[in-house]
Amino acid sequence: MDRIKTIEFKDNILHLIDQRKLPLSYQIFQCTSYRDVDFAIKDMVVRGAPAIGVAGAYGVVLAAKEFIDCDRDDFLIHMDEALEILNRSRPTAVNLMWAINKMRSIIEENKDLPPADLYDKLRQEADRMLKQDIDTNRKMGKVGNEIVNEKATILTHCNTGALATAGFGTALGVIREAFYSGKDIFVYADETRPRLQGARLTAWELLEEGIPCKLIADSAAATLIRDKKIDLILVGADRIALNGDTANKIGTFMLSVLAKEYEVPFYVVAPTSTIDFDIETGDEIIIEERDNSEVTHMEGIRIAPEGIDVYNPAFDVTPHENITGIITEEGIIKSPFRENILKLK
Ligand code: MRU
Repeated sequence: MDRIKTIEFKDNILHLIDQRKLPLSYQIFQCTSYRDVDFAIKDMVVRGAPAIGVAGAYGVVLAAKEFIDCDRDDFLIHMDEALEILNRSRPTAVNLMWAINKMRSIIEENKDLPPADLYDKLRQEADRMLKQDIDTNRKMGKVGNEIVNEKATILTHCNTGALATAGFGTALGVIREAFYSGKDIFVYADETRPRLQGARLTAWELLEEGIPCKLIADSAAATLIRDKKIDLILVGADRIALNGDTANKIGTFMLSVLAKEYEVPFYVVAPTSTIDFDIETGDEIIIEERDNSEVTHMEGIRIAPEGIDVYNPAFDVTPHENITGIITEEGIIKSPFRENILKLK
């Protein structure tokens, strides 16, 4: 199929598939300023660790466009502010900070150039990141496909597909690759409460591709795993610590505990840009807490009583002991994770 264009930059406008609206309607959200990009990331128009990294990079490009006529000193002051704002738009996925840091270093290395030339350099870097993300995902697909049996039932969580990246996907990329290489696979997709990325986005992508699948409530996973209906669990990642502890969508940790108890292989699929070499363990990962209304409401309709308090973390941390391996574009990382992760630095 044609690539799903989650992120496209043309005519100085960032075009994003509005993931708040899928699957009921397919709409494009246009960002004309870096503040639009900040909003789009916060409100989850665009979401998924690699996708928000690339979108953030284009946010920096839009900022450069906005301030292109300023003198160099003012330009640099405005850019600094834009970088800070974009960097803070969501806290857990390290890909965003990774992308913003790359853009910051382009500015620092070229700060003597006129703003118009800096704009060109930032634009080239953002375009390169987008392309590189797709290439990396395709590589991970091939690496990951090696651990998928000729016939396999795979459980996945959240959305890790083309929509969560610049294209192809991470965990869903491995599933795509397995399917297109002719393997007889069947996928169970967790609905992924409360934002329903599994029901709304993964189900949509799987159906678009014709990959055999069923959608389940998150709470059905335990029964499937106990009853030996799942051969393999594949999930994505938002941040991986040096010891292999992995932050991913809330509910991932629960799956990993079940996988360990019932001896189901549990793999994380993530590009090396998701590794945070600055943190030792998952305890250092900031877990985003989102608005209560994500739990108390559905499509704007209240489903819980007025006045109820809510705990709504967007992510959890899976301890490395529960992870069979981390599939990256450089190969599969296994225990001892710290030692093997450091080899990638
Ligand atoms: O809150 P989201 O939808 O941005 O969370 C996304 C996830 O947790 C994904 O599993 C993760 O970003 C990896 S996607 C390639």
